[in-house]
Amino acid sequence: MVQIIRAKDFEDMSRKAANIIAAQVVLKPESVLGLATGSTPVGLYSRLIEMYKAGDVSFRNVHTVNLDEYEGLDARSDQSYVWFMHHNLFDSVDVKSENINLPNGAAADGEAECKRYEEVVRGFGYADLQLLGIGHNGHIGFNEPCGEFPQETHRVELTESTIRANSRFFADGEHVPTHAYTMGIGTIMNAKKVLLVASGKDKADIVYRSFFGPVTPQVPASILQFHPDVTVVADEAALALVK
Ligand code: GLP
Repeated sequence: MVQIIRAKDFEDMSRKAANIIAAQVVLKPESVLGLATGSTPVGLYSRLIEMYKAGDVSFRNVHTVNLDEYEGLDARSDQSYVWFMHHNLFDSVDVKSENINLPNGAAADGEAECKRYEEVVRGFGYADLQLLGIGHNGHIGFNEPCGEFPQETHRVELTESTIRANSRFFADGEHVPTHAYTMGIGTIMNAKKVLLVASGKDKADIVYRSFFGPVTPQVPASILQFHPDVTVVADEAALALVK
């Protein structure tokens, strides 16, 4: 079941989504939080840091599992997702470093790394709450449109449009990764709850197609229509086509 929560703007979306994550952690302090990168969650991570500093929520007993990571990048690169997570959340809250999990982009054997990571997430019994952004082509994590829904953590070749969208974070001339490791659609669908955030008019079309169009691996996020507990928090602009 998909519940859609309409927020006024990016700020309001961030506040509402942060409240949902904080409530999850308050209700179950040892929650497994599935986390996401991209520009959309940045505001909600800031709100969570504020709540932590105000003493309203603690991440001491939380485990985290991130969706994805670029192949070839590690924490030394400020474009890696591990760096992003430390910079935007982990270093400002009390999550224990040994409880943080991401695919290792610098692993020598990509396939073995995907297997290892899937085992880590499965070992937790999957995420209690999985946060997702959404790509313009409907990708979640780095599950790009394709012929069938990939089940487990795997290596992906990024589409031209994703590489182009992500290149805004890289300096001119810097190599933008062409491959990534990502949780599979099955890994994501095994999460007990899903929280998807979307902001801006450039996401209106894909939000509409994902939740009101046919379920197809050509729009990876559309599979969420079959998940029992999905909350979409999106702002007016991203919900422009949803009456
Ligand atoms: C990247 C990430 C996704 C994210 C997407 C959208 O491709 N792998 O997890 O949802 O970007 O990013 P943004 O929120 O910046 O639009």
